[in-house]
Amino acid sequence: MFAKSIEIGAVLAVFAAAVSASCAYGTSLHPRQEQPPAAKYGYGAVDGPLLWYGLNKTANEECSRGNNQSPIVIDSTTKVSPASEISLEIPDYPDGAEFENLGTTVEVIVNGTLKISGKEYKLAQFHFHTPGEHRINDEFYPMEVHFVHQAEDNSRAVVGFMVELCNGSAEPFLGDVLASVQEIKDSGATTQTKPLSFKTLTESFNKTPTWRYDGSLTTPPCSEEVQWIVSQKILYLDVVTWLAAKKVVKFNARYTQNSPGNDNLLEISARDLAE
Ligand SMILES: *[C@@H]1O[C@H](CO)[C@@H](O)[C@H](O)[C@H]1NC(C)=O
Ligand SMILES: *[C@@H]1O[C@H](CO)[C@@H](O)[C@H](O)[C@H]1NC(C)=O
Ligand SMILES: [Zn+2]
Repeated sequence: MFAKSIEIGAVLAVFAAAVSASCAYGTSLHPRQEQPPAAKYGYGAVDGPLLWYGLNKTANEECSRGNNQSPIVIDSTTKVSPASEISLEIPDYPDGAEFENLGTTVEVIVNGTLKISGKEYKLAQFHFHTPGEHRINDEFYPMEVHFVHQAEDNSRAVVGFMVELCNGSAEPFLGDVLASVQEIKDSGATTQTKPLSFKTLTESFNKTPTWRYDGSLTTPPCSEEVQWIVSQKILYLDVVTWLAAKKVVKFNARYTQNSPGNDNLLEISARDLAE
């Protein structure tokens, strides 16, 4: 796995300049206006996931030392919760919503409410990863969407959806958001999406079981105590729209982390090197 990550990093080095020039913002828990200035990170050879800790050893310590890091491989050992435990509501946006290129991802700011066994979390934003970050039974998906939530006591919960390609029509909100992705090619660019409705998304989420585990943000500072809720409902996206999204988002997936509770892979690697 390490050799592979490094290989991919080396291939991406060609693009590192473009990526690192535009990494002033992170994938943020909050919409960007609430975000303190973050260390520049990206997905290239010198600013990518293997070196995030080195970018700021105070802020990003958990990236290299945390034992509950994300993303992971989800498999038969991952806890499954019945649909009845969790519900998600997101209002319609008949005038569209703000869609911004943060340099490290593209993000939409909408309101919403997640309830986990009665406890309420507010939706801050959702954003995209190409390819997907979590793997299901080792398989990767071409895209993953993260809905980032926070409760009043500051506890965090992220709802993830895997996106698979199809020849037919896209999940409505996915197609309607990503129809505008070519308008935000550059870091910092913003646009307004088409009218958005999350009705089919929330209806199917609310009746589908979820995989649950305690992990972390998948971007610096890699903070832990993030409840992950990965829907077993796979979303579909047409190939043409995915290709357009990939041209803008490029590559923003962190490598697979050790399974929850086990040593950080970078600590294991450092020990191996020191032997
Ligand atoms: C590193 O992170 C710490 C804690 O968030 C922050 O106070 C400090 O300014 C950062 N250092 C640099 C060089 O960005
Ligand atoms: C979210 O809700 C708050 C409070 O009702 C409102 O002020 C804000 O404009 C809403 N934001 C969006 C993006 O809908
Ligand atoms: Zn994410």
